[in-house]
Amino acid sequence: MSPRGRFIVLEGLDGAGTTTQGALLAERLRAAGITVELTKEPTDGVIGRIARSFTDGRAHFEPETVALTFAADRIEHTVEIRALLDAGTWVVSDRYVASSLAYQTSQGLPFEWVRTLNTRAMDPDATIFVDTPVASCVARLEARGEFNTGPFDQASALDAARDLYLQAFGSDIPLGTLVEVDGDRTREEVAEAIWDALEPFRA
Ligand code: TYD
Repeated sequence: MSPRGRFIVLEGLDGAGTTTQGALLAERLRAAGITVELTKEPTDGVIGRIARSFTDGRAHFEPETVALTFAADRIEHTVEIRALLDAGTWVVSDRYVASSLAYQTSQGLPFEWVRTLNTRAMDPDATIFVDTPVASCVARLEARGEFNTGPFDQASALDAARDLYLQAFGSDIPLGTLVEVDGDRTREEVAEAIWDALEPFRA
């Protein structure tokens, strides 16, 4: 039987570079002979698409509905993650529980309530926070035409989400090894820092 795969979560603000870094990490793990699947939240499943319709600004839902939708999407996603890990595949997920704790609490929901919705989630082996200053995130979102498009793609919302991410990381939620990486560098430099931080897991 193959050993269980590792579960690595990437977190960061919109525009922080988690999607790019997830792709670079998966590529590098594959080149090192590790079987890896790259996943993301919201997923492309039916429930994930409902969540995305809110974050894209195409639909409005109450904060509670958004939190429940992300949590439900995550429950379905977690079934897939568990099966992959059991088969020995590594999973790199672009966002997971910490995103809900940062973004849904930024809409006024109590931390403990959002946490309770997510108690059935998997514990990551490592959580990588790509910490990119809000001004850089805004510049990147503007360049992509994604600034001011949804409720979270705004400077004040990103400021709030960053504070709440840090609060979540200071709590006792399961994160595995927390790795905070300065995201305000070239994509190659950020990728290198992530690769180095994950060295103990590849041994
Ligand atoms: P993003 O990760 O940029 O994905 P995409 O490029 O596919 O739009 O955006 C996802 C948005 O969803 C981002 O604003 C954060 C938000 N989000 C939550 O509010 N709660 C969650 O639990 C998750 C996973 C994401």
